[in-house]
Amino acid sequence: MRPKISPYEKVTIIGENGSGKSTLALGYVKNMPSAIIHDPKHEVQLPNFHITENPRDLLRFARVIWRSPGDMDPVDAGNILGEAVLTRKWTCLSLNEAALVAPGQRMGPKLRQAIITGRSLKIGVWAETQRPVDVHNLFFSEAHAYFASPNLIKSDAQKVVGFVRGYDEFSSQTWPKFTWLFYRKGEGTAQILKLGRAERPKRRRDSR
Ligand SMILES: Nc1ncnc2c1ncn2[C@@H]1O[C@H](COP(=O)(O)OP(=O)(O)O)[C@@H](O)[C@H]1O
Ligand SMILES: [Mg+2]
Repeated sequence: MRPKISPYEKVTIIGENGSGKSTLALGYVKNMPSAIIHDPKHEVQLPNFHITENPRDLLRFARVIWRSPGDMDPVDAGNILGEAVLTRKWTCLSLNEAALVAPGQRMGPKLRQAIITGRSLKIGVWAETQRPVDVHNLFFSEAHAYFASPNLIKSDAQKVVGFVRGYDEFSSQTWPKFTWLFYRKGEGTAQILKLGRAERPKRRRDSR
């Protein structure tokens, strides 16, 4: 049902707050043999992942969740992550909120290098964003695949239209929550994924 994606691809997920970006990304990343998850909002917990604030742990554990210190500059945090994955190789970097490692068009050189040379070094990058207009263009131009919520507001949708073929057409309709448009660069047009879990019906209480 979900598209197959290698751990070493670059994937950008664009969706409004609460649209299910993190759930979608973690569904893939949790099964990867080597991954760093940047968790600046302290909301990620996964079995078999080591949770840490210490940047040195990024080279010590195959599967690690990094809670970067709240007072750290986002560009510095991105650079630390970039350097770690450039050293590790054969790994995946999951960015819970891309604006918290590359605000606006600011990005540290190591993160930039990790994104640009990622394919040859086998470095995957999964970037989530709720404000595509505020996030570095490399997350769009270098991505191999995109998941985009069809329910974005206009200004955000405008940026996505240029990268996800068919976005305009799909987003003019109304879609239930947890619907995604998946687009692989170079392919014909986006495909719809309905990932919403059906609401469990409330059990009727029998009154005897
Ligand atoms: N496919 C889904 N079906 C039902 N609920 C979901 C689905 N994906 C996410 N959710 C729920 O929606 C809420 C927001 O999801 P989350 O992944 O945190 O969104 P985001 O990262 O975009 O803010 C969470 O409570 C999550 O459990
Ligand atoms: Mg999230």
